[in-house]
Amino acid sequence: MEEIRKKIEELKKEKDAVILAHNYQLPEIQDIADYLGDSLQLSRTGASLPQKVIIFCGVRFMAETAAILSPDKVVVLPDEDAGCPMVDMVKPEDVRKEKEKHPGVPVVSYVNTSAEVKAETDYCCTSANAVKVVREIPGREVLFFPDQHLGSYVQEKLPEKKLHLWPGYCIVHVRILPEDIQKVRNQYPKAVVMVHPECKKEVRDLADEVLSTGGMVKYARESKAEEFIVGTEVGIIYRLQKENPGKKFYPASKLAVCANMKKITIDKVLYSLETLTPRISLPAGIVQKARQAIERMVKIR
Ligand code: 13P
Ligand code: SF4
Repeated sequence: MEEIRKKIEELKKEKDAVILAHNYQLPEIQDIADYLGDSLQLSRTGASLPQKVIIFCGVRFMAETAAILSPDKVVVLPDEDAGCPMVDMVKPEDVRKEKEKHPGVPVVSYVNTSAEVKAETDYCCTSANAVKVVREIPGREVLFFPDQHLGSYVQEKLPEKKLHLWPGYCIVHVRILPEDIQKVRNQYPKAVVMVHPECKKEVRDLADEVLSTGGMVKYARESKAEEFIVGTEVGIIYRLQKENPGKKFYPASKLAVCANMKKITIDKVLYSLETLTPRISLPAGIVQKARQAIERMVKIR
Protein backbone atom coordinates (compact mmCIF):
# COMPACT_ATOMS: atom_id res chain seq x y z
CA MET A 1 0.00 0.00 0.00
CA GLU A 2 2.87 2.41 0.89
CA GLU A 3 4.43 1.77 -2.52
CA ILE A 4 1.14 2.62 -4.31
CA ARG A 5 0.71 5.79 -2.27
CA LYS A 6 4.23 6.95 -3.20
CA LYS A 7 3.55 6.30 -6.88
CA ILE A 8 0.26 8.24 -6.65
CA GLU A 9 2.08 11.23 -5.11
CA GLU A 10 4.68 11.21 -7.91
CA LEU A 11 2.07 10.89 -10.65
CA LYS A 12 -0.03 13.71 -9.18
CA LYS A 13 2.94 16.08 -9.62
CA GLU A 14 3.89 14.73 -13.02
CA LYS A 15 0.32 15.00 -14.40
CA ASP A 16 -0.65 18.21 -12.55
CA ALA A 17 -3.52 16.32 -10.91
CA VAL A 18 -5.57 16.70 -7.74
CA ILE A 19 -7.65 14.05 -5.96
CA LEU A 20 -11.15 15.00 -4.79
CA ALA A 21 -13.06 12.48 -2.70
CA HIS A 22 -16.57 12.27 -1.27
CA ASN A 23 -17.08 11.61 2.45
CA TYR A 24 -18.44 8.08 1.72
CA GLN A 25 -15.24 6.84 0.04
CA LEU A 26 -13.23 3.90 1.37
CA PRO A 27 -10.62 4.76 4.05
CA GLU A 28 -7.75 4.07 1.58
CA ILE A 29 -9.19 6.77 -0.70
CA GLN A 30 -9.97 9.27 2.08
CA ASP A 31 -6.33 8.95 3.18
CA ILE A 32 -4.89 9.92 -0.23
CA ALA A 33 -7.43 12.65 -1.07
CA ASP A 34 -6.29 16.27 -1.36
CA TYR A 35 -9.85 17.41 -0.65
CA LEU A 36 -12.63 15.49 1.07
CA GLY A 37 -16.16 16.84 1.22
CA ASP A 38 -19.88 16.74 0.44
CA SER A 39 -21.33 17.33 -3.04
CA LEU A 40 -21.52 21.10 -2.64
CA GLN A 41 -18.02 21.50 -1.19
CA LEU A 42 -16.54 19.28 -3.90
CA SER A 43 -18.24 21.16 -6.73
CA ARG A 44 -17.02 24.50 -5.36
CA THR A 45 -13.49 23.18 -4.76
CA GLY A 46 -13.24 21.52 -8.18
CA ALA A 47 -14.08 24.77 -9.95
CA SER A 48 -11.51 26.83 -8.03
CA LEU A 49 -8.41 24.61 -8.31
CA PRO A 50 -5.41 25.42 -10.53
CA GLN A 51 -4.56 21.78 -11.47
CA LYS A 52 -5.33 20.62 -15.02
CA VAL A 53 -6.52 17.15 -14.00
CA ILE A 54 -9.16 16.17 -11.43
CA ILE A 55 -9.28 12.56 -10.25
CA PHE A 56 -12.80 12.40 -8.84
CA CYS A 57 -13.38 9.68 -6.24
CA GLY A 58 -17.14 9.54 -5.90
CA VAL A 59 -20.04 8.68 -8.20
CA ARG A 60 -20.58 9.79 -11.79
CA PHE A 61 -22.96 12.72 -11.22
CA MET A 62 -20.36 14.33 -8.92
CA ALA A 63 -17.57 13.94 -11.49
CA GLU A 64 -19.91 15.27 -14.20
CA THR A 65 -20.69 18.33 -12.08
CA ALA A 66 -16.95 19.01 -11.72
CA ALA A 67 -16.48 18.58 -15.48
CA ILE A 68 -19.39 20.92 -16.27
CA LEU A 69 -17.95 23.63 -14.02
CA SER A 70 -14.41 23.16 -15.36
CA PRO A 71 -14.75 22.54 -19.11
CA ASP A 72 -11.01 23.07 -19.71
CA LYS A 73 -9.95 20.41 -17.20
CA VAL A 74 -9.60 16.67 -17.62
CA VAL A 75 -11.96 15.00 -15.14
CA VAL A 76 -11.39 11.30 -14.47
CA LEU A 77 -13.75 8.90 -12.64
CA PRO A 78 -11.61 5.87 -11.62
CA ASP A 79 -14.50 3.42 -12.12
CA GLU A 80 -16.86 4.32 -14.93
CA ASP A 81 -19.60 2.12 -13.45
CA ALA A 82 -19.76 4.10 -10.21
CA GLY A 83 -23.26 5.50 -10.69
CA CYS A 84 -26.07 6.61 -8.39
CA PRO A 85 -29.38 4.71 -8.79
CA MET A 86 -31.35 7.85 -7.87
CA VAL A 87 -29.97 9.55 -11.01
CA ASP A 88 -31.71 6.92 -13.16
CA MET A 89 -35.09 7.57 -11.49
CA VAL A 90 -35.75 10.67 -13.60
CA LYS A 91 -35.20 11.16 -17.34
CA PRO A 92 -35.07 14.49 -19.22
CA GLU A 93 -38.41 13.68 -20.91
CA ASP A 94 -40.02 13.27 -17.44
CA VAL A 95 -38.90 16.80 -16.57
CA ARG A 96 -40.14 18.16 -19.91
CA LYS A 97 -43.58 16.53 -19.37
CA GLU A 98 -43.87 18.02 -15.86
CA LYS A 99 -42.92 21.45 -17.22
CA GLU A 100 -45.70 21.13 -19.80
CA LYS A 101 -48.18 20.27 -17.02
CA HIS A 102 -47.02 23.23 -14.89
CA PRO A 103 -46.04 25.98 -17.34
CA GLY A 104 -43.77 28.69 -15.91
CA VAL A 105 -43.04 26.81 -12.66
CA PRO A 106 -39.26 26.75 -11.98
CA VAL A 107 -37.43 23.41 -11.90
CA VAL A 108 -35.08 22.58 -9.03
CA SER A 109 -33.00 19.41 -9.41
CA TYR A 110 -30.94 17.73 -6.77
CA VAL A 111 -27.33 17.50 -7.97
CA ASN A 112 -27.89 13.69 -7.98
CA THR A 113 -29.19 13.87 -11.58
CA SER A 114 -27.77 13.31 -15.06
CA ALA A 115 -26.27 16.19 -17.05
CA GLU A 116 -29.26 15.85 -19.42
CA VAL A 117 -31.72 16.43 -16.56
CA LYS A 118 -29.62 19.36 -15.31
CA ALA A 119 -29.89 20.82 -18.82
CA GLU A 120 -33.72 20.96 -18.28
CA THR A 121 -33.26 22.53 -14.84
CA ASP A 122 -33.37 26.14 -13.61
CA TYR A 123 -31.57 25.61 -10.29
CA CYS A 124 -29.51 22.75 -8.93
CA CYS A 125 -29.23 22.10 -5.22
CA THR A 126 -27.47 19.70 -2.88
CA SER A 127 -28.53 18.43 0.53
CA ALA A 128 -26.46 21.25 2.06
CA ASN A 129 -28.32 24.12 0.39
CA ALA A 130 -31.70 22.78 -0.85
CA VAL A 131 -33.74 24.83 1.65
CA LYS A 132 -31.79 28.00 0.85
CA VAL A 133 -32.05 27.51 -2.93
CA VAL A 134 -35.84 26.92 -2.87
CA ARG A 135 -36.39 29.81 -0.42
CA GLU A 136 -34.65 32.28 -2.76
CA ILE A 137 -36.63 31.33 -5.87
CA PRO A 138 -39.33 33.91 -6.59
CA GLY A 139 -42.90 32.61 -6.63
CA ARG A 140 -44.66 29.91 -4.64
CA GLU A 141 -44.48 26.76 -6.76
CA VAL A 142 -41.42 24.63 -7.57
CA LEU A 143 -41.00 21.35 -9.48
CA PHE A 144 -38.52 19.34 -7.38
CA PHE A 145 -36.55 16.35 -8.84
CA PRO A 146 -35.84 13.53 -8.04
CA ASP A 147 -35.53 12.86 -4.27
CA GLN A 148 -38.97 12.82 -2.64
CA HIS A 149 -37.43 12.67 0.86
CA LEU A 150 -35.11 15.67 0.47
CA GLY A 151 -38.07 17.40 -1.21
CA SER A 152 -40.42 16.65 1.67
CA TYR A 153 -37.76 17.96 4.11
CA VAL A 154 -37.56 21.24 2.14
CA GLN A 155 -41.37 21.41 2.08
CA GLU A 156 -41.50 21.07 5.89
CA LYS A 157 -38.97 23.88 6.29
CA LEU A 158 -40.74 26.15 3.79
CA PRO A 159 -44.52 25.84 4.37
CA GLU A 160 -45.08 29.00 2.32
CA LYS A 161 -43.89 27.14 -0.82
CA LYS A 162 -45.65 24.47 -2.85
CA LEU A 163 -43.22 21.76 -4.01
CA HIS A 164 -44.30 19.23 -6.62
CA LEU A 165 -42.26 16.15 -5.67
CA TRP A 166 -40.94 13.44 -8.00
CA PRO A 167 -41.02 9.91 -6.49
CA GLY A 168 -37.23 9.24 -6.55
CA TYR A 169 -35.26 8.08 -3.52
CA CYS A 170 -31.85 6.85 -2.37
CA ILE A 171 -31.75 3.05 -2.07
CA VAL A 172 -29.18 3.35 0.73
CA HIS A 173 -30.84 5.95 2.96
CA VAL A 174 -34.30 4.33 2.82
CA ARG A 175 -32.69 1.25 4.40
CA ILE A 176 -32.34 3.22 7.63
CA LEU A 177 -35.53 2.56 9.63
CA PRO A 178 -37.09 4.27 12.68
CA GLU A 179 -36.53 1.00 14.62
CA ASP A 180 -32.78 1.25 13.87
CA ILE A 181 -32.61 4.72 15.41
CA GLN A 182 -34.61 3.59 18.46
CA LYS A 183 -32.38 0.54 18.93
CA VAL A 184 -29.05 2.42 18.75
CA ARG A 185 -30.46 5.24 20.88
CA ASN A 186 -31.42 2.73 23.59
CA GLN A 187 -27.83 1.49 23.53
CA TYR A 188 -26.30 4.99 23.64
CA PRO A 189 -28.89 7.26 25.28
CA LYS A 190 -26.56 10.27 25.50
CA ALA A 191 -25.67 10.25 21.80
CA VAL A 192 -26.80 13.02 19.43
CA VAL A 193 -28.69 11.63 16.42
CA MET A 194 -27.66 13.17 13.08
CA VAL A 195 -29.41 12.00 9.89
CA HIS A 196 -29.17 12.90 6.21
CA PRO A 197 -32.22 14.55 4.55
CA GLU A 198 -32.39 11.62 2.10
CA CYS A 199 -33.77 9.58 5.03
CA LYS A 200 -37.54 9.01 5.26
CA LYS A 201 -39.62 11.46 7.30
CA GLU A 202 -40.24 8.86 10.07
CA VAL A 203 -36.46 8.67 10.55
CA ARG A 204 -35.84 12.42 10.29
CA ASP A 205 -38.54 13.00 12.91
CA LEU A 206 -36.51 10.97 15.42
CA ALA A 207 -33.27 12.88 14.79
CA ASP A 208 -31.74 15.77 16.71
CA GLU A 209 -30.12 17.17 13.55
CA VAL A 210 -30.81 16.77 9.81
CA LEU A 211 -27.58 17.51 7.95
CA SER A 212 -25.65 17.01 4.71
CA THR A 213 -22.48 14.94 5.09
CA GLY A 214 -20.41 18.15 5.21
CA GLY A 215 -22.85 19.48 7.82
CA MET A 216 -22.30 16.35 9.94
CA VAL A 217 -18.51 16.79 9.79
CA LYS A 218 -18.84 20.41 10.95
CA TYR A 219 -21.45 19.66 13.61
CA ALA A 220 -19.40 16.80 15.11
CA ARG A 221 -16.30 19.03 15.22
CA GLU A 222 -18.07 21.93 16.93
CA SER A 223 -20.45 20.06 19.24
CA LYS A 224 -19.68 19.53 22.92
CA ALA A 225 -21.39 16.11 22.72
CA GLU A 226 -19.12 13.08 22.92
CA GLU A 227 -21.27 10.45 21.22
CA PHE A 228 -23.11 10.54 17.91
CA ILE A 229 -25.47 8.22 16.04
CA VAL A 230 -24.89 8.69 12.32
CA GLY A 231 -27.86 8.17 9.98
CA THR A 232 -26.16 8.14 6.60
CA GLU A 233 -23.80 5.99 4.51
CA VAL A 234 -21.36 4.27 6.87
CA GLY A 235 -18.19 5.43 5.04
CA ILE A 236 -18.38 8.83 6.72
CA ILE A 237 -17.71 7.23 10.15
CA TYR A 238 -14.02 6.79 9.20
CA ARG A 239 -13.60 10.54 8.64
CA LEU A 240 -15.62 11.50 11.73
CA GLN A 241 -13.61 9.16 13.95
CA LYS A 242 -10.25 10.23 12.47
CA GLU A 243 -10.97 13.94 12.94
CA ASN A 244 -12.50 13.54 16.42
CA PRO A 245 -10.45 10.88 18.22
CA GLY A 246 -11.95 11.78 21.61
CA LYS A 247 -15.56 11.27 20.41
CA LYS A 248 -17.54 8.16 19.50
CA PHE A 249 -19.59 7.59 16.33
CA TYR A 250 -22.13 4.77 15.85
CA PRO A 251 -23.86 3.93 12.54
CA ALA A 252 -27.67 4.10 12.72
CA SER A 253 -27.72 1.06 10.41
CA LYS A 254 -24.80 -1.08 9.27
CA LEU A 255 -26.85 -1.79 6.10
CA ALA A 256 -26.45 1.79 4.89
CA VAL A 257 -23.64 1.00 2.46
CA CYS A 258 -23.44 2.60 -1.00
CA ALA A 259 -21.88 -0.10 -3.20
CA ASN A 260 -21.26 2.42 -5.95
CA MET A 261 -19.14 4.66 -3.72
CA LYS A 262 -17.05 1.60 -2.78
CA LYS A 263 -16.21 0.83 -6.43
CA ILE A 264 -13.33 3.31 -6.30
CA THR A 265 -10.19 1.61 -4.98
CA ILE A 266 -6.61 2.80 -4.61
CA ASP A 267 -5.48 0.53 -7.50
CA LYS A 268 -8.05 2.14 -9.79
CA VAL A 269 -6.89 5.61 -8.73
CA LEU A 270 -3.31 4.65 -9.63
CA TYR A 271 -4.43 3.32 -13.03
CA SER A 272 -6.43 6.51 -13.64
CA LEU A 273 -3.41 8.66 -12.88
CA GLU A 274 -1.24 6.61 -15.21
CA THR A 275 -3.68 6.66 -18.13
CA LEU A 276 -5.97 9.64 -17.37
CA THR A 277 -8.96 7.35 -18.01
CA PRO A 278 -11.93 6.76 -17.73
CA ARG A 279 -12.56 10.37 -18.60
CA ILE A 280 -15.84 12.28 -18.25
CA SER A 281 -16.97 13.46 -21.66
CA LEU A 282 -20.29 15.24 -22.20
CA PRO A 283 -21.89 16.82 -25.30
CA ALA A 284 -21.04 20.56 -25.48
CA GLY A 285 -24.70 21.62 -25.84
CA ILE A 286 -25.69 19.74 -22.66
CA VAL A 287 -22.71 21.17 -20.74
CA GLN A 288 -23.67 24.72 -21.68
CA LYS A 289 -27.30 24.29 -20.55
CA ALA A 290 -26.48 22.28 -17.40
CA ARG A 291 -23.82 24.80 -16.31
CA GLN A 292 -26.38 27.59 -15.79
CA ALA A 293 -28.31 25.55 -13.20
CA ILE A 294 -25.14 24.51 -11.34
CA GLU A 295 -23.66 28.02 -11.39
CA ARG A 296 -26.89 29.46 -9.96
CA MET A 297 -26.59 26.94 -7.11
CA VAL A 298 -22.89 27.58 -6.44
CA LYS A 299 -23.57 31.35 -6.21
CA ILE A 300 -26.28 31.01 -3.52
CA ARG A 301 -24.45 31.27 -0.18
P1 13P B 1 -23.93 15.05 0.47
O1 13P B 1 -23.96 16.13 -0.56
O2 13P B 1 -24.62 15.41 1.74
O3 13P B 1 -22.53 14.59 0.71
O4 13P B 1 -24.75 13.81 -0.09
C1 13P B 1 -24.43 13.16 -1.26
C2 13P B 1 -25.13 11.88 -1.40
O5 13P B 1 -25.05 11.24 -2.43
C3 13P B 1 -25.91 11.42 -0.29
O6 13P B 1 -26.32 10.16 -0.53
FE1 SF4 C 1 -26.70 7.81 -4.66
FE2 SF4 C 1 -27.61 7.11 -2.28
FE3 SF4 C 1 -25.16 6.34 -3.05
FE4 SF4 C 1 -25.70 8.91 -2.42
S1 SF4 C 1 -25.74 7.14 -1.05
S2 SF4 C 1 -24.54 8.18 -4.19
S3 SF4 C 1 -27.78 9.13 -3.22
S4 SF4 C 1 -27.12 5.73 -3.97
